[in-house]
Parts: sequence; C-alpha cells; structure tokens
Amino acid sequence: MRLTSIFATALAVIGITAASAAETPVTFTKDVAPILEARCQICHRAGQIAPMSLMTYQEARPWARSIRQKVLAREMPPWFIDKNIGVQHFSNDVSLTDQEIATIVQWVDAGAPEGNPSDMPPPRQFADGQAWQIGNPDLIVTLSKDVVVKAKGPDWWPDILVDPGLTEDRYIQAVQIIPTKGRPVIHHIRTSIVEPEAGTRHSGQLDGNVALEVGEQGVFLNEYAIGKGGDVFREGSGRLIKAGTKINFQFHLHSSGTETPINVALGLKLYPKQYVPHHVITSLTVGVNDIDIRPHETNVRSDGYMPLIKPARLLSFQPHMHNRGKAECLEAIYPNGKTEMLSCAHFLFNWHLNYVYADDAAPLLPAGTILHSIMWHDNSAENKFNPDPDAQITWGERTIDEMGSAWLSYYYMSDEDFSKELAARKAKERTLASTR
Ligand code: HEC
Repeated sequence: MRLTSIFATALAVIGITAASAAETPVTFTKDVAPILEARCQICHRAGQIAPMSLMTYQEARPWARSIRQKVLAREMPPWFIDKNIGVQHFSNDVSLTDQEIATIVQWVDAGAPEGNPSDMPPPRQFADGQAWQIGNPDLIVTLSKDVVVKAKGPDWWPDILVDPGLTEDRYIQAVQIIPTKGRPVIHHIRTSIVEPEAGTRHSGQLDGNVALEVGEQGVFLNEYAIGKGGDVFREGSGRLIKAGTKINFQFHLHSSGTETPINVALGLKLYPKQYVPHHVITSLTVGVNDIDIRPHETNVRSDGYMPLIKPARLLSFQPHMHNRGKAECLEAIYPNGKTEMLSCAHFLFNWHLNYVYADDAAPLLPAGTILHSIMWHDNSAENKFNPDPDAQITWGERTIDEMGSAWLSYYYMSDEDFSKELAARKAKERTLASTR
C-alpha cells in the first residue's frame, strides 16, 4: 500500500469543497467563532496548554493563516485518523468536518473578515476540569510529592511509579485522570499498570518521584489530554488490576515561563470485591522490537502481527512511536484470507492519541483473525520532531530510540456472545439502511 496516496486524497477532497462553495460571504462572528468554540477553545484559552487564545476575533485574527494551514492539514484539532479508510465512528472524535474546514479556509481566503459583532455566539462556559466524570472513584492515586516544572526548558517526559497499595485483585469499571495542580504545563499524561511480576526488573526506589529504568512502563491504562473525560468501560466489561500492581505515570510536561509544581489524581471506579465482569479487557501492543532506520530515510516500514485465539471485540487503537513516527495502520487478516484495513492515522510525536471505536462500529473479529499493525518512520529533516536526521536509529525505550506498535484494547467473547453481537450489529445496519 502506498502511504502518500491515502493522505493526499483527503486534502484533495477538502480543496474541492472549499473552492466550490465560495458564494456566501463567510464571517468570523457568524461562521468561524462557533467552530472555534466547539473545537478549539478547550485548549486555546488562557491557562491551557495551547500557545495562544482563540476566544475573540482580535485574538484569532493574527493567526488566520496558521489556522488555515493547520486545519487543512488536519493537524488541528489533534485527531489524525485517515478519513478515507477504515472505521469512521469513534466515541472520542474531536475532528472537524470537511464542511467546517472549508468554512475556515473560505474565511481566511476572503481576508478573515469579522462580520457583524451581533452574530457572535454567547461565550462557551468551561467547567474547571476538576470534576470526576466517572462518578466518585473508589481509589484515588496521586504523587506523594509535587513534580516541579522549571520556568524554562525543553519538553520533559518523566516516568513516575506509584504504589496504590492494592492488597487484592480487583476489576476496573471506569478510570479518569485529573491534573490537580499545574494544569497549564501538563500536555498529557499516560498511565500504565506495572504488574507485580514486572516489578523485579526495576532498580529505582518507588514513589520517590524517581525516573524509571528502561522497561518499566507497564501496560497502558489510560490517558489524560485536555478536553478528555474518563474512560467508562462498556457494560459488563472491565480491566483487571492485580494486588501489588503499581501505577506508572508518564508525563509530557511543557515549561510555561513560570516555575510550576504539578500533581495529579488518577481515579478508579472498581467493581465490587469478588466480582468478575463478563468481558475482561486486555490491553497490549502489536508491533516490532527490531527497527533499523538509516540516516535521512523517509519511509521506513515495519509490520507487527498478533493472532486472536477467540472471537474478539476491538475497543481502541493507539499508534505508538517516538520522534520519527510518521503514520500507522491497523489491518485485520481474516481466517478466510481476506484483509480489511481497520484504521490508519498520521502520527505527530507531540500527540499520543487513543482512538476509541464507537459502540456501533467497534470491529467484531472472528477467532483466528490476525491483527496486523503497519508503522512508518521518517528520519529525514522534513520531520520537524526529528532531533538528528544523521543518526542511525534502532529500537529502544528511550525517546531518542524508536518504537513501532499499536496499543490495542479488546476483549474476547464466547462463540455464542460473538454470534449474538454480530446479529445485533447486522440488524442495526439493516434498520439504518431502510431509514435512509
Ligand atoms: C487538545 C488541545 C487542542 C485543541 C482541541 C486544539 N489545539 Fe491548536 N494547539 C494546541 C497545542 C498544544 C499547540 C502547540 C503545538 C502542538 O503541541 O502541536 C497548538 C497549536 C496550534 C496552532 C499553531 C500555533 C503556532 O504556534 O504556530 C494553530 C494555528 C492552532 N493550534 C489552531 C487550532 C484550531 C483552529 C483548533 C480548532 C479547530 C485547535 N487548534 C484545536 C492544542 C490544541
């Protein structure tokens, strides 16, 4: 498959829409402000992670060209799923429609006019982001002491391991991360589960805010990024957290000009003791641990494979690479030999996005399906995140090494449950088709 062709088509389609609909005058107050409110201001306002506020015409006007470029390239808002391939329904989709992009482009191309101030929509009210959307957690895990982000410095990716003191195995029903201090410097947070067996490999002391040794990042649990609420697992499903498990917090921190202490609360809602959910969710990576990228190479492909031993429901897809990551796809190779591309996404190192399939679109995969992840790396100077295009790059856990994998969450089902889910899906599709 040709990578460039997939992404080129997306832009061409948008370009045509933008050109042909240019008759009605587009203004900031009437047409653009509602889009910024809905899709941008969550990050682009005072005290948030984005570099500038986009709340008013005066604030947005100087950025018009840059906004045009970023939305057309689908770099903003951060959501990099290829719109022309695979599943298109996600429960956490924040992307703009082609029509919204066309509107912004027309506005900029018309000289970014303000329009009638009375057309301006009422300002959007933002919650302070400190509320538990999953309900009151049964367990809250925080850092024993604040981490201090210096006033000035390069972006920083510390790992901090915390022992939540779990004395028995439990199943997680919902999970959410809330930054409790220093939100403006927290670009994102990933948590992972480090099971007791894995604990023997690390050498640092626990919870003294010690950076972890290689190999201690555990299994992906969840993620905080601005605008994201909690993850509530589907009815009857949950994730196991074993007694003695530690939580690894991986931060992406970004200096803001003022020394800022940060802290965070990870909230877990647990199923009752002894309760085992009908579907137990697994999260793991499908990828490679062997990468060899020569200097200045632009399109280095690697492939990972994992067979599903039972019928499964795939819940989410998260590309994982480092600085030189470029794009990633996930394909299903069915037992009958047919293949289907489930998802493709661009990759920008700044953003670690987890694409959560909507309930009515989550792939239902028969036993014997092979999940196939395809990763592309770009070690050229064209890649703005590349710290050194002259370097020969191999696989490793440090940010300066590379990785290539898909973090996937799924659960296995009995043959009976699978047939039922498939039948329900087909019935729904028939209903949808007949109402069109
Ligand atoms: C999830 C938070 C988030 C959302 C939502 C978001 N942005 Fe951004 N934006 C950022 C961050 C952070 C940056 C800084 C660069 C980076 O990290 O990619 C940025 C950078 C930009 C830039 C480049 C600024 C520069 O310095 O050149 C533009 C333009 C932009 N955003 C426009 C938008 C628009 C328009 C929207 C909505 C359609 C939007 N953004 C939605 C977080 C966000």
